Amino acid sequence: MSSDIRIAIIVGSTRPNRRGGLVGEWVRQGAEELGHTVEVVDLAAWDLPLLDEPNPAIHGDYANPHTRDWAATVAGFDAFVFVVPEYNHSFPAALKNAIDFLFAEWNDKAAGLVGYGVQAGVRGIEALRPVLSEVKVAHVRTQVCLNLMTDFVLTGPTDVGRIEPAPYQREALAQLLDEVVAWAGALKGLRVPA
Ligand SMILES: Cc1cc2nc3c(=O)[nH]c(=O)nc-3n(C[C@H](O)[C@H](O)[C@H](O)COP(=O)(O)O)c2cc1C
Repeated sequence: MSSDIRIAIIVGSTRPNRRGGLVGEWVRQGAEELGHTVEVVDLAAWDLPLLDEPNPAIHGDYANPHTRDWAATVAGFDAFVFVVPEYNHSFPAALKNAIDFLFAEWNDKAAGLVGYGVQAGVRGIEALRPVLSEVKVAHVRTQVCLNLMTDFVLTGPTDVGRIEPAPYQREALAQLLDEVVAWAGALKGLRVPA
């Protein structure tokens, strides 16, 4: 049974050879098996330029077609799962840029965070949380932290490898999604219909 909460799985890394695609696909498969309504939104495919809007997003008067397209896509979801690698103690610039483009489209929605990295992406997640607060996204407590050393099978540091998360990671994902759906449902009532 599908939920009526539409969840975007936002893949937050864009580099060639990234592992973000593997993580996004693992989240998608797991979420669909659990009956959630999800869609992968890949920032690499969006290829947004660096923020080029003349006015801050809070004013909502988007000048560029790519911004209006991005806004329409994000507006179509009730909730998000951010797939976020750790880059230099934080999260990727491409993800910050994609968030900065918009404001109202993020507001009063829920999100869960799935991090990954050499040290399981915890600091990337922690850096993202205050950014989400600023755009009024309610980020749930449960998070998934995938360790490159134990939740992936790699033959070397530059090998994209395979994703093979420990069984408890799947349980964490299920809990995260339950929390996201609960909060997104509660927040729906706050949102003005488009
Ligand atoms: C620019 C860059 C900085 C990184 N910094 C960190 C870091 O601070 N901590 C960490 O645990 N891993 C770090 N890593 C390792 C990444 O978390 C790991 O390579 C991960 O696969 C990156 O996600 P991606 O493959 O989707 O780009 C870094 C990787 C890159 C490319």
